[in-house]
Amino acid sequence: MDDREANVKARIGFVGGGQLALMTAQEAERMRRDSGGDLDITINILDPEKNCPAHALASEHVVAGFSDPNGLQKLASVSDIISYEIELGDAGAIALLRDRGVVVRPSPETLGRIQDKFVQKRFLASRGIPVPRCVAVAAIVELGLPSMLKARRGGYDGRGNYLLRVKDDVEKGYARLGGKELVLEEFIPWTEEVSVIAARDERGKVSAFPVGENIHEEGILRLTAIPARTTPEVAASAERVAGQVLEAFGDIGVFGVEMFVRDGEVLVNEVAPRVHNTGHGTLERDAFPTSQFEQHMRAVTGMPFGETTQRLPVVMHNILGEDNGYQGRYRYEGLAQAEALGARMHLYGKAEVRPRRKMGHLSLVGERLNAKGEVDRLVERAERARSMVRIVGVE
Ligand SMILES: Nc1ncnc2c1ncn2[C@@H]1O[C@H](COP(=O)(O)OP(=O)(O)O)[C@@H](O)[C@H]1O
Ligand SMILES: [Mg+2]
Repeated sequence: MDDREANVKARIGFVGGGQLALMTAQEAERMRRDSGGDLDITINILDPEKNCPAHALASEHVVAGFSDPNGLQKLASVSDIISYEIELGDAGAIALLRDRGVVVRPSPETLGRIQDKFVQKRFLASRGIPVPRCVAVAAIVELGLPSMLKARRGGYDGRGNYLLRVKDDVEKGYARLGGKELVLEEFIPWTEEVSVIAARDERGKVSAFPVGENIHEEGILRLTAIPARTTPEVAASAERVAGQVLEAFGDIGVFGVEMFVRDGEVLVNEVAPRVHNTGHGTLERDAFPTSQFEQHMRAVTGMPFGETTQRLPVVMHNILGEDNGYQGRYRYEGLAQAEALGARMHLYGKAEVRPRRKMGHLSLVGERLNAKGEVDRLVERAERARSMVRIVGVE
């Protein structure tokens, strides 16, 4: 054991109290148990929602908006390190805290750069990282069709994007995203989407998990398989590009790097300065000795990284609210049937379901790494398990 790992005591304050903070807090508890109390990390949160997913496990819950300067101040006063599980915090207000001596990881500058899709891509391009071409749009301009119109800020789960296929879509896209600052991006006819979850520590060491393969549906993540069913060349490029991204930010913590693969070439779609939905499979202890959540805590508290060598393949399937317009209280059906297929359920305890809201995920772990057809089989099983779970309104 490294001396950086002896008797670590730290309070991490997350901006955001959603499922990412919840799973981090669950991992912190497990680490405390496994270490006999030597690794004592507690999680605080800032979230306006009283019964947000991480509420029950948080040591302190500051109930205030993500950008509320008093709320941020309060979070800082009970925490040793500030970090994020969503990108909606006010980077300027967080920078003021940092300037007064609060430790913020990743830095508010990184947060600010990532918050704006245009600024983010310009930054990555300036560091020689391949990204789709994009232009800031104040009026209707064309980068050729099809192209992707995106809100520069605040978009998530595809909600800020509008695909322009034909000329008529230009009006429609502006109407839909109207009033927001926009960026127009070239449409990439990608054949695969992959991502790499990687962490960087204060010494500049980078530790990456194996490349994941992502399947999105209408801009929202449906499923991630690790390892990705791709060529060794693409996997190597994705790892290299992710390393370049972490180097470019030169920051501390876990980052999620989403990429497109076009003709074997890897392009960065977007970067998240936090643990990431495509890394949830790392929670399964028989598949990975260290989860992305543990790795983030290790990075920001100055502990050495945990092992990321994969032991078994894992497929994660999101459980989203049905797209039937219902919003409100709910219950699950079919969980036992999904579990009977070997699915491990991770439910986030959200008070209400909404269409397409991330309510939980399930994971399936395979029997042998790199066995032919193993990931195909897991994907098929994950789809089957997911189809058994129903979210039913109770109003
Ligand atoms: N330029 C693009 N070309 C092709 N597909 C894209 C492009 N931009 C986004 N997409 C598709 O939409 C998904 C969501 O887009 P993204 O910009 O990552 O939005 P969000 O911030 O909502 O996750 C991507 O994972 C991809 O499937
Ligand atoms: Mg995305």
